[in-house]
Amino acid sequence: MDKKLKIGVLASGRGTNLQAMIDGIQRGELSAEIAIVISDNRDAMALERARKANIPTVYVKPGKKSEFEREVINILEENNAELIVLAGFMRILSPNFVNHFPLKIINIHPSLLPSFPGLEAQRQAIEYGVKITGCTVHFVNEMVDAGPIILQEAVPVYDDDTVESLSDRILEKEHKILVEAVRIFSENKLKVIGRRVFIDKTGSDKCL
Ligand code: GRF
Repeated sequence: MDKKLKIGVLASGRGTNLQAMIDGIQRGELSAEIAIVISDNRDAMALERARKANIPTVYVKPGKKSEFEREVINILEENNAELIVLAGFMRILSPNFVNHFPLKIINIHPSLLPSFPGLEAQRQAIEYGVKITGCTVHFVNEMVDAGPIILQEAVPVYDDDTVESLSDRILEKEHKILVEAVRIFSENKLKVIGRRVFIDKTGSDKCL
């Protein structure tokens, strides 16, 4: 049996992306274990979802940024996290934090980056008038929503879309590509050269 990748998840909200990873593990699609779920929001549904799946959780009170991040780093290290997934984590991490885990932090964002970084990406897409948007899984670097891109999936924007309807359509794809990205990472198949991420497809029966 392969060694399971230990994942630390940071989440602030409802946690559907966390749930997608939990389900992926339970279905046997991922050889990984979520070692810890950390939240800056005591009431995050993500914490509830983790508890239901018997995953340890920690709430870290957001205070001074450097102290908050120091505590989160300690918790991740104590839990031997080899991959950190930002799954709806609503804080911007400092360069100090990011550089502590080089190419070990990934984020899911609801647009086709580099379009529409930051908050309310789905609203930005509708207001801009694009016909296609989507979602992106990327490595986290020192800049917001700007690290090397691992996977993207396109989603159409319809004339009668609301932010909610578009967000729901994107969310389905988020769950899919996040689980896929974690799987590829866990299989050690990612190679990063500069900004470009290459996926080793040898021995894979999946079409990426
Ligand atoms: C998702 O849309 C994700 O792309 C963004 O925050 C949202 C989190 O949703 N970063 P959930 O908490 O995983 O349901």
